[in-house]
Amino acid sequence: MKILLLGKNGQVGWELQRALQPLGQVIALDRAGECGLVGNLGDLPGLRRTLCDLKPDIVVNAAAYTAVDKAESEPALARRINAEAPAILAECMKKLGGWLVHYSTDYVFDGSGQQPWREDQSTAPLNVYGQTKREGEQAIQASDCKHLIFRTSWVYAARGNNFAKTMLRLAAEREQLKIIDDQVGAPTSAELIADITAHCLRTARNKPVASGIYHLAAAGEVSWHGYANFVIEQARQAGQELAVQKIAAITTADYPTPAQRPLNSRLDCSKLRDTFGLHLPDWQNGVERLLLETQGYSS
Ligand SMILES: NC(=O)c1ccc[n+]([C@@H]2O[C@H](COP(=O)([O-])OP(=O)(O)OC[C@H]3O[C@@H](n4cnc5c(N)ncnc54)[C@H](OP(=O)(O)O)[C@@H]3O)[C@@H](O)[C@H]2O)c1
Repeated sequence: MKILLLGKNGQVGWELQRALQPLGQVIALDRAGECGLVGNLGDLPGLRRTLCDLKPDIVVNAAAYTAVDKAESEPALARRINAEAPAILAECMKKLGGWLVHYSTDYVFDGSGQQPWREDQSTAPLNVYGQTKREGEQAIQASDCKHLIFRTSWVYAARGNNFAKTMLRLAAEREQLKIIDDQVGAPTSAELIADITAHCLRTARNKPVASGIYHLAAAGEVSWHGYANFVIEQARQAGQELAVQKIAAITTADYPTPAQRPLNSRLDCSKLRDTFGLHLPDWQNGVERLLLETQGYSS
């Protein structure tokens, strides 16, 4: 079993390097590529050539244009990476008869309402990033290759920068923080996404009917403000000295950004749970683990 992993050094890509190992031979590339293999999703002919030469049984695409605000001023580049490159991957995997695993986002929805989004509900992205990610999903579906598209949310990892680490740094420096309280979702660890990807791939190889889009997020929900409170409270309990005295709740309107973001990022993951027989842990589990790993404190 030959598995090509693209975007090996991103939050999810890094964890996939570990989680995919027991499934077969993993050829992992970053945008620099290696040994003549192209890992840059901006090089569409090179990408096609690489798949033709390598003939992988599975491609896992963890690379993406993820700079949500910057995408507003670079729509062509975002589209190339998030939509045109996945279209090439899908076309090649259709020819090869193998599986394509791809990741998408809650940002394909407009964030209206209070209910968790299901896979079959209408999409209406509010920003360029979400629009290009949706186009990537559509290209994969149209190719009719065997695919697993995992829509996830609020990803964090021990490696790289993330909201939890930023909160700890700011809480050590400032007496007051202002954090958005009207966007709600589930922080989801790259570790969980990678482990579930490996589990689903094992199952899907013998169950082609599993092909499709799945929502994949940790259980429960929280606002960014609630998430910040949790992180800071955990750190205090572990004996960290923090300067912060007040964590004020603000609205999205109080914090304008180039890209508009959805208020309701809740994802209904029952299709994933039912199809693959999975249990999804509460979001707090992974965040506690992240804090232990990154702060080096023990409880
Ligand atoms: N982060 C989130 O909160 C979030 C939420 C929902 C869904 N997702 C989706 O989950 C997936 C994984 O996200 P992540 O959090 O792991 O993202 P990430 O940490 O930003 O990693 C993205 C990776 O893509 C690589 N990349 C960017 N442009 C590339 C190009 N032209 N060619 C090759 N590689 C390129 C980046 O490499 P460089 O470091 O060299 O730029 C980076 O390693 C993505 O599909 C993303 O859309 C993420």
